[in-house]
Formats: sequence, C-alpha cells, structure tokens
Amino acid sequence: MVINVTKPFLPEIADYSELLSRIWSTGWLTNNGPMVLELEERLRSFLGVKNLSFVSNGTIALQIAIRSLRLSGEIITTPFSYVATTSTIVWEHCRPVMVDIDPQTFNIDPRNIEGAITPKTSAILATHVYGNPCDVVEIERIAAKHGIKVIYDAAHAFGVRYLEDSIFNFGDVSCVSFHATKLFHTIEGGAVIARDAEVDHLVSRMRNFGHASPTSFDEIGINGKNSEFHAAMGLINLPQVSEIIAKRHKISERYRGHLKQILRHQEIDSECEYNYAYYPVIFESEEDLLRGMARLKERDVHPRRYFYPSLSNLPYLDSAFDTPVCADLAPRALCLPLYPSLDLADVDMICEILQSALDK
Ligand SMILES: Cc1ncc(COP(=O)(O)O)c(C=O)c1O
Repeated sequence: MVINVTKPFLPEIADYSELLSRIWSTGWLTNNGPMVLELEERLRSFLGVKNLSFVSNGTIALQIAIRSLRLSGEIITTPFSYVATTSTIVWEHCRPVMVDIDPQTFNIDPRNIEGAITPKTSAILATHVYGNPCDVVEIERIAAKHGIKVIYDAAHAFGVRYLEDSIFNFGDVSCVSFHATKLFHTIEGGAVIARDAEVDHLVSRMRNFGHASPTSFDEIGINGKNSEFHAAMGLINLPQVSEIIAKRHKISERYRGHLKQILRHQEIDSECEYNYAYYPVIFESEEDLLRGMARLKERDVHPRRYFYPSLSNLPYLDSAFDTPVCADLAPRALCLPLYPSLDLADVDMICEILQSALDK
C-alpha cells in the first residue's frame, strides 16, 4: 500500500451528491452563488473573523491581498515557505527582500526585519510556517513604527488560534489555502481575510473583474471567484474540521513519542492552539534525510521535502539573499505522512524505518 505525505479528505459521496442536486435544481454554477455566500458566512462564524472572501486558490488570495493594500516597491518576506509566497510578490511587480528565519520556530525572525526596511519598503509578507504563528505582536509593533502593512501567508493555518483569537485576525490581511491537501479544503480554493472593511470591499471587487455594478468598473480586477461545486465541498467538510484536527493531533502525538529523541522538531508557540497541519522533522544532515527517504521509499512511503529549496536563490530574484539559517534548515526538513485515515500501525512502521536508517 502506498503512503503519501498526505491524502485529501473525502466526505461521504451521498452528502456531496445531495448538495450537487441543489446546483442542478437552481442551475446556478458560479458567480457568487448561494452556496458560496453560505460558505463565506459559515467560515466567518466558525473562524471568528469579520471579513472573508472565498477565492479560487491561495495564490490568487496573495495576489489580491498585495493589490488591495496598494503595495509597491519592496516587501520583506521569508525564504522558508512555498514558492507562491515569493512568486506572487514578483508577479505583482514588487521586490521580495528575504530576511532570515528563527531556527526554532522556522518563521521569519522579527529581529532581522528592521535592518531590512528602506524608504521603498511597503509591507512585510510572512508565513505562519506549518501553521505555527509568527511573532505577530512584534511584527505588528515594527510595522506600526514604520507605517508599513502586514500580510500573513496563512495557507497552513486554518483553525489555528493565538492569544485566544483566530490567527487570521492578526495583520492587515491573511491569506489561506483550501487546496485539496489542506486540512480544510474545497478541492481548489482559498480566502482573503481583511481586517479593514474598506480593504475587504476592495478585495471582493477585485476578485470579480473589478465590477462595481454589472456595467461599471472602478478598479482593475481579476477572475478570482470560486464556484458552487467548490463551495459545496467546503460546506460538507467544515463540520468535520474538529474531528479532522483531533485525529491529526493523535497521529502527531504517536510520531512524537517515537521521534522526539532522534529528530529535531519545530517549536510551537505556547500561546497557540495548533491545528496539526503537518508533521515536519529536521535531520542532523541532508545525508541522513536522504537515507531516511530512500529507506521509506523501499516500503512505498513518500514523505515530502517541504519547504525545499530555500527561496533565497530563486532564479527570477534580482539578487540572491544571504539567509544562512534557512540555507542550513531547508535541506534537512522533511514532512512525514499525516492525514486522518493514517493507521497508527503505519506511523509505528515509518518511525521504525527512520530509527534504523539513522542507526546506519
Ligand atoms: C505557504 C503556502 N503559500 C501559498 C500556497 C498556495 O496555495 P494554493 O495552492 O491554494 O494556491 C501554498 C500551497 O501549498 C503554501 O503552502
């Protein structure tokens, strides 16, 4: 049996079919349909956020966030993230300025931010890596002091709470992904959560070609809408989220029991109610990681090198950035298989294989 790093959650087909039959009866497939509106309302209430726009994916969420905050010039960001965090900045004609990460939390290290601020800096775009909250209080302080904006790439952070609030309520805008591999998903999808009502208004226009009305356009926009089919998957999956997180928690604890002595783990902030989005481990060397992966592959187990490589050296950046902590960490980071239906016996097997690979 193949064990991949993740397995998309699929609800009961009968539950999904029931919502599909609603689409057939209304004939409304996309363009802000009733299920999209219902999902948005349910997500606001589930997450405890005021504003939320459902969009077609997490990448377009980031693009719209950058546009809606009218950013230009330089954006300070992290090299330890998925490529979409950087590519969206370049796509929106801004310049990513990479600063190094904290070796324990794997998030952007706020101590490196102020030194990178120049008169051209318009924002900080930081990732809550694997769902672990950034030092949002310190980042907020720096941003307020310098009059710059904050966007969080919260692709992994669905359901995470910090300081007894939704993590999405920190920063000017948070962007989340609802891709099939995420713990809450709509097959493809994402959302933009804006603190400010005016920004939220702009976001909802920008995702719909900039329409102010059927015949007027006062903003440049893009097609970032999502469909009734995707919203239906979200409506079915949302009530399952607490159970999905609980199962992931249990599997993560099982891994931890076996691996805490032999592999390094990410330090999760003590004020965080975590969502167990990933199970990352750090090997002592890249050689150890490659040996562990090779042994797992023999048994058809496929973890993922995520995030790798460091984004500091992407070929389309105008300069390379010196981020030694990330350069050291990224080649040694591996996400182990984690999904609700993963058997604990398979977790035991994966850990035994890793243990024996590390014993050499
Ligand atoms: C950190 C991060 N940002 C952005 C994205 C992009 O999200 P999407 O795949 O929904 O476009 C991902 C996707 O995995 C991600 O991991």
